[in-house]
Amino acid sequence: MTQILRTIPELQDALAAAVEHAEASTPTVGFVPTMGALHSGHGELLRAARESADIAVASVFVNPLQFDDASDYLHYPRQLEADAVLLEEHGVDLVFAPSLDEMYPGEVEGSDAPDPQVRVSVGDMGRMWEGASRAGHFDGVATAVAKLLSIVAAPLGRRTVLQAWFGEKDAEQLAIIRRLAADLNLPAEIRAVPIVRDENGLALSSRNQRLTPEHYQSALSLSGALRALAEDARRGRPLNIPLQSAHVRSAGADLDYLVVVDPATLKELDLSEVAPLRHEALTLIAARVGPVRLIDTMRIGPTV
Ligand code: PAF
Repeated sequence: MTQILRTIPELQDALAAAVEHAEASTPTVGFVPTMGALHSGHGELLRAARESADIAVASVFVNPLQFDDASDYLHYPRQLEADAVLLEEHGVDLVFAPSLDEMYPGEVEGSDAPDPQVRVSVGDMGRMWEGASRAGHFDGVATAVAKLLSIVAAPLGRRTVLQAWFGEKDAEQLAIIRRLAADLNLPAEIRAVPIVRDENGLALSSRNQRLTPEHYQSALSLSGALRALAEDARRGRPLNIPLQSAHVRSAGADLDYLVVVDPATLKELDLSEVAPLRHEALTLIAARVGPVRLIDTMRIGPTV
């Protein structure tokens, strides 16, 4: 039975008890941080965490620090009751669903906006690609994730392994969280689950619901371009980014970027030097299709 905990002490007491009663002598805790409004993409994260851990924990917290648009934050769906059903179905043991004040005590004077005085600041990696058009977004993500990992790790003994799960779809977020954990020595192994795609290759996202049938066809051009580049890389051919960009645009998508980057640093690779690709790389694409901005990514390389 899934327990929902609202405060940090409640969560930490419940976690300490779960570790104490775990059958394994070195139990593993699988943690899935979310902002709620759960969909089948989250289902994959929960399944992976459940399968590889003795104790499965999730958090549901809409993090104001990562929204650059106040109205987006206000309108972000909050549906803990519905989320709790999915969390229970996936066998999650503990759900941390803190209030805003529990996560960020103290407010900006005269408003109810949180005002933490110490935040995580991500370097250049936080200002590339998605970060370039969403000022402060990755600082907000990193601050929330650092806090959540510290909160979950605190009651675990040294022999308990903490694994934190993130989706490969948010490739920049994943790369930044890996650096966050390494740079701040956070006591968690960062794990990733592959992108879930529909039968036509479109990466699942709650935003897809807003695509008309015509937009849906345009949206398929994003994964189509990434697949074509992956095929080029596999066959040792030069990657023709301009050609694939033109395909995406002619399918009616308003392309923001299509790039090949280093998976760890997110820096763009100079294809004149690396084609044909000898190492694994990452393609990133973002485009507006009708009313929605979509992102997608694919690992590419000679053996991928
Ligand atoms: O990916 C998300 O849902 C959020 O960015 C995260 C990791 C839960 C941090 O708020």
